[in-house]
Amino acid sequence: MEIVILPDTAAIGSLAADAIESLVQRKPDAVLGLATGSSPLAIYDELAARYAAGRVSFAQARGFTLDEYVGLPADHPETYRNVIHKDFVDRVDFAPGAVRGPDGLATDIPAFCAAYEDAIVAAGGVDLQILGIGTVGHIGFNEPGSSLASRTRIKTLTRQTRIDNARFFGGDVDAVPTHCLTQGLGTIMSARHVVLVATGPQKAEAVHHLVEGAVSALWPGTILQHHPHVTVLLDGAAASRLQLADYYRETYQAKPAWQGI
Ligand code: GLP
Repeated sequence: MEIVILPDTAAIGSLAADAIESLVQRKPDAVLGLATGSSPLAIYDELAARYAAGRVSFAQARGFTLDEYVGLPADHPETYRNVIHKDFVDRVDFAPGAVRGPDGLATDIPAFCAAYEDAIVAAGGVDLQILGIGTVGHIGFNEPGSSLASRTRIKTLTRQTRIDNARFFGGDVDAVPTHCLTQGLGTIMSARHVVLVATGPQKAEAVHHLVEGAVSALWPGTILQHHPHVTVLLDGAAASRLQLADYYRETYQAKPAWQGI
């Protein structure tokens, strides 16, 4: 894992956008793995600004989102499909239908999940996966106890995740769906490059386990320690419990800027 500790979310957004811009330039039909949540917003804002400035185009790119609530009506503003369109997809020039996501209204859920896995493979696999991490250590919605080899499937949300996400549902925990569809940990591990963003003190414990803890289903993000190309972008608060923070800072400072992440 490469750990990069940056001063603020704008710096994180800019560095991740550099990697995505460079990917799309060398591979215009790149496949992006898109995450919802507050963590990637600075990346999407930066990419939207670069698109508006004519620096980058997603006209041939494809995207797959990570997860979706089960049972929310299609026009609900908090479906992850609607959120990713508002936060990113509709601000740039993706072709219609180029960004797909799990269907939380699928009637045959196992068949839908298998087809979703097949669609990712048929697209050539994810080139760059953007990730956040939950306070419980989940990536996507792979809650503690998830199989480290899991594929897209239905999951039950933990109480803590529903409390964390109640802010998007008027503060009402009971309005947060109880189930979700999520790419599995094995699905995420198949991406070629994973860029995980975490900011704020509430993420410090999950980041501590993610980077320096034992690999365990109890902290599902720890599976990424087995991935050959993971970049973890942190602010100082999220990095505050890392034992080797000074080492990560020195290492990144000594890295030539042209290398990127
Ligand atoms: C959510 C999503 C994850 C996201 C995480 C952190 O519940 N399912 O994909 O990465 O929790 O969210 P945030 O970035 O808003 O803190």
